[in-house]
Amino acid sequence: MSLPDLSLARAAIAACRQRPGGLCVLTGAGMSAESGIATFRDALTGYWARFDPAELASVAGFRADPARVWRWYAERREGVRRAQPNAGHRALAAFEARHPGALVLVTQNVDDLHQRAGHAAVLRLHGDILDEQWLGPCAKRQAGGPACDPAQAQRGDPPRCEACGNLVRPGVVWFGESLPIAALARAEQAAADCAVMLVVGTSGAVWPAAGLAEHAARHGAQVVIVNPAPSEIDDQAHWLLRGTAAEVLPRLLEAP
Ligand code: APR
Repeated sequence: MSLPDLSLARAAIAACRQRPGGLCVLTGAGMSAESGIATFRDALTGYWARFDPAELASVAGFRADPARVWRWYAERREGVRRAQPNAGHRALAAFEARHPGALVLVTQNVDDLHQRAGHAAVLRLHGDILDEQWLGPCAKRQAGGPACDPAQAQRGDPPRCEACGNLVRPGVVWFGESLPIAALARAEQAAADCAVMLVVGTSGAVWPAAGLAEHAARHGAQVVIVNPAPSEIDDQAHWLLRGTAAEVLPRLLEAP
């Protein structure tokens, strides 16, 4: 990583410390890699190098084999619960604590490491792996009554509603599903409003999240990318910092 790029990126970030929403941060799976959570597209260790996303991260895949999909997510959840925020997560949270309101954090990650590092507000584009939802509409709700609570479902792989048999699914956004509208709209606004867009640990392979860097650049922001390897959105970067989240973010965000 060239030190001049690091110091120029640092200066650009330092310049927006006092500005509300001056720094918009987008994170991906690489942000949590040094916490022991696998990425998706890493050639050897990535989930999609070992499993078929159509089978494990789609409604059709879940319907085809609910038990297998549920168990796979249960294993990932255990991994998330065991994991701890790394120095990169902590550096972002410390920056936010020093400069309240300057940073808007958007993540594609379904883990809770940003929240555990201390961020109160995180725009989650791809859901929450620790959350549980009904696969289909709740029959009681449709009959005008209160919706059944997934947490009260009859346990099993996956749990199911005793009343109507509805299955419980993990609260993540699967391929072919829409992102949460409010979170995406706020992320796009934050990208348009920021002075610096800091992109950490994403391959830029999945839209619309991958479009946020270009959206920010089109609105005049400077784009900083932190990634040890090339990504599909490197052409949007003003500064490309070739290193890991836990190595680079503490140096990039440390107090002057
Ligand atoms: N620090 C920073 N970046 C890293 C690190 C690290 N320690 N380790 C790996 N990376 C980079 C990789 O080089 C890669 O570019 O993180 C990126 C991870 O890319 P993906 O595995 O494609 O993850 P992501 O971009 O978050 O995927 C987007 O795809 O499968 C879906 O819904 C899932 O949210 C996910 C989305």
